[in-house]
This record gives sequence, structure tokens and C-alpha cells, in this order.
Amino acid sequence: MPSFSNWFAAGLMATSAMAMPHAHVKRTTSKRGAAYNDVALVNSLGGSGAVGWAYDWSLGSLLGSTTGLPNGVQYVPQIWGTSDLDSVATAVNTLLHSGSQYILGFNEPDMTSQSNIDPTDAANYYATQIVPFKGHAKLISPAVTSSMTPGMGLSWFEEFMGEGGSSCNLTGLAVHWYGDTADEFTTFVQQAMSTASQYGLPEVWVTEFALNADVNGVVDPDTTSAFLDSVLPWLDGQDQVTHYSYFMTAENYLVTDGSLNSVGNAYVSAA
Ligand code: BGC
Repeated sequence: MPSFSNWFAAGLMATSAMAMPHAHVKRTTSKRGAAYNDVALVNSLGGSGAVGWAYDWSLGSLLGSTTGLPNGVQYVPQIWGTSDLDSVATAVNTLLHSGSQYILGFNEPDMTSQSNIDPTDAANYYATQIVPFKGHAKLISPAVTSSMTPGMGLSWFEEFMGEGGSSCNLTGLAVHWYGDTADEFTTFVQQAMSTASQYGLPEVWVTEFALNADVNGVVDPDTTSAFLDSVLPWLDGQDQVTHYSYFMTAENYLVTDGSLNSVGNAYVSAA
């Protein structure tokens, strides 16, 4: 909402020490998530309060990855790709036992190296196998990349919606972003918000984002912390962005030797 971001930008310029309204602080905490493979590292972010939700690119397992999250952190299962469709009923158990309120759809179906599903097949799978869970959880779209190549990124999503996705009872659009600057990031998230709005979707989830340089681990902690310091207050100010998770909660990213590092500190100490 323009009025809110203007107010927020003005506040940022006025003084970084300005006290933020309490409601703002609460919303920030619940939006920020942990994208993890090793649940122990989610705890090293600082226990309850550091993040509001978490996912591990999978359906989780009642005996495995959904246990051990800090109290109050909502586990969100993801149906990563077609291989997960065989065991999709597990998601219901996960939801019922862990208090999840959402299901994430396929992971980067627009990438051959990831779940690699064309929009028509994805819409069919989604409609027949994921939509039946709509009584248990809110449904989030497949997570598309920030690629601007036709057929990828938001254009993959638009095709998916045209092939039946728009009847899939979605609550939100999930996107990933890798790029070089904070400006590129906010421009892309704004495009995602406007695409979501075109389809009447109230929520945007940014389930992976990082600087290109940091895909295999943070290269220069000061640069990455400055990037996070710049984009997190902006994300927190976008009401339509309800969830985001930096890539990722792992060694050499937010954590070093099992403890929060300076980048992790920038991530969890935002507003
Ligand atoms: C993959 C996941 C993996 C994650 C973290 C993602 O790109 O799709 O399967 O767990 O990266 O390594």
C-alpha cells in the first residue's frame, strides 16, 4: 500500500532509532521464515521469536523434520514435485499434528534442474491432488523463479493460472529471487505483487531470496548484511508479502559453526 510504504520510508529516513509501533514488530516476526535442511540450525537462529515459520522443501515427517522446531514456529509443508504426489496424504498428517495453516506447491517447476513441470501438467496435478486439502490449509502456488525468460518465472505462473490454476482456490503466489541489488529485488517483488493482485490473490510468499554471489554460501558478510538491512524493512512494510525466507538457514549462510553469524544477526534482528 503506497501510503504505508511512504510512511515507512519517511520513518527510515528520519532516524534508524525511531521506535516502531508494536503492531509492526509483531507482523515482522511472523512473516520472517527459516528455509532449512537441518532443523537444529533453526534453533540456532535464536529460538522462539526469531522466525515465525519454517519449511524444508518437503512434506516433512512426523518423526523427522517437523519435530524440533522452536515453540511457536509454524512448519509449512511443501509438495516439492511430482515425486511427492505419491505420498501426498502424509501432508494431511503433518498439518493436523503440527498446526500448519498452509501448503506450498511445487518448487521451481519452471527450472529443468528443479521440479521441472510444465504449466498444464502442474495445473492438473495441483487441481486433482492438492486442492482436496483446501479444507485443511490455505494453498500457495508453485514457487516460480525470478527468470524473465518467456515460459519461466511469472510468465510460467500466468500460463499455469490460464491452464486451470485459477480454479485451484489459491491464497497466494510464491516466488524466488536471485539477483545483484536491493533495487532489483524490490522491483521483482513489486511485479510479483501486481501479478498476484491480477488474479485476486491476497498473499505473496518470497520463499527463497539471496544475492547471486551468495548462492553457495555468503561471500562477503558486510555486503549481505547491508542487502538484508535494506530489503527487510521494505518487505515488512508490504502488507501483501505475508511470508519470506532468506536462502538459507544453513552453515556458511546465516550460521557459522552452529551459531548465528553477522548475516544471521542482520536477518533476525530486523525491526
Ligand atoms: C532444493 C531443495 C533443497 C534446497 C536446499 C533447493 O533448491 O530444491 O531440494 O533442499 O535447495 O539445499
